[in-house]
Amino acid sequence: MNNKTERLKEYAKMLINKYGSPLYVYDYEMLKKRCEDMSKLQKQLENALAKKVRMHYSTKANSNPYILETVKEAGLYVDCMSPVELMINKKCGFKNQEILYVCNNITAEEMKLVYESKILICLDSISQVDTWGKQFPGTKIMVRINPGVVGVGHSEKVITSGKLTKFGITEENFEELFEVAKKYNLTIIGIHQHLGSLFLNDKIDNYIMGVKAGLNLIKKHFKNIKIVDLGGGFGVPYKPEEKPLNLDIVSEKLIKVLKEFVNEYQSVEEFKFEPGRYIPCEAGYLIGQVTAIKHENGQYYIGTDIGMNQLVRPSMYDAYHEITIFGTKSEEKIQANIVGNICESGDILGKNRTITLPNIGDLVVVSNAGAYGSSMASNYTGRLRPGEVMIYKDGRIEKMKDRETETNILQGLYFPKKYKI
Ligand SMILES: Cc1ncc(COP(=O)(O)O)c(C=O)c1O
Repeated sequence: MNNKTERLKEYAKMLINKYGSPLYVYDYEMLKKRCEDMSKLQKQLENALAKKVRMHYSTKANSNPYILETVKEAGLYVDCMSPVELMINKKCGFKNQEILYVCNNITAEEMKLVYESKILICLDSISQVDTWGKQFPGTKIMVRINPGVVGVGHSEKVITSGKLTKFGITEENFEELFEVAKKYNLTIIGIHQHLGSLFLNDKIDNYIMGVKAGLNLIKKHFKNIKIVDLGGGFGVPYKPEEKPLNLDIVSEKLIKVLKEFVNEYQSVEEFKFEPGRYIPCEAGYLIGQVTAIKHENGQYYIGTDIGMNQLVRPSMYDAYHEITIFGTKSEEKIQANIVGNICESGDILGKNRTITLPNIGDLVVVSNAGAYGSSMASNYTGRLRPGEVMIYKDGRIEKMKDRETETNILQGLYFPKKYKI
């Protein structure tokens, strides 16, 4: 158990009793610290480059208004990818120019909403540029390119550049992009790229290579670009042996390539980044409880109420999360698969973990659950999504989200008349 989870121990039982199990819990101080890291990086880059630099927190990682409030207090901006995320961003007080709409395969109606909201849009295919141009000729847009190099990410499913991804426009299609833009008198004011999600220190150079590849394409093909958006990807350590991302090194290396770019490409006025995971990930925990213990075919299974619907990362990406079990007094060490309550073989929270034999009812704490945790949760098999709370330094607890109720799930569901409920 590390210090962070140790601190949670004093609260965990009380929280579960009050707000139900499982429950997402966030540590405000950690969240604030990670926001401050990003504003520090923003300032370092801005000072070194003498250009505007803006960090747009990627709402998809966690869209809870309490997270967004902290992001806003740190002076960061946001990006969003859907009408609901946009609505939440606006409600949290972000101004139009502080929001960026980074979307993928959206309808003409959704584009209209973005246009009417006066939010800068980033379009990621020629087809989408065409759909936009038809409706809003003569406007300014950003486009997402695929810099061609293989991106960086913790799983193939989150690598978003290279030959195997649905994202962005590749160099061979730039001419067609320019034709479509010209047809509708669109001005491409910004270029966006996002290489993938999660790089740590061993992949900083790959990230920088990807950045260089994108910048080279801009220099070679695009004229008069004002905004260069380099996306997100800043990682956090999930495994005990992993080290935190050294942002000073990232900053130093970025400054070098961006300075060269700025010297050669005069029109650029602003760099943007879209950190998602980095900000809320380490602040978040998912607390649940042990519901069953079984030993079959030589394998221990520790059943919990934390199903893949509550935290999908382990089953979706084979992602590792630290799991701590509170409460056991046993000295007996076992190797166990820690699993959820969903009827799927892939519903495994942690494989082959060495733990002490727990008891039913012991609390289970999953670390690093603050990003792509609650935002990816679902009602699969009719399970209720958890409540969420924030813990502040002085011990104050704020409810961020109610635990769902059966009524929430049944709302909008129609039953044939003969099934009276
Ligand atoms: C376009 C875009 N920007 C930013 C992000 C945030 O990425 P991360 O959470 O790795 O920082 C994502 C997530 O994959 C994304 O798709």
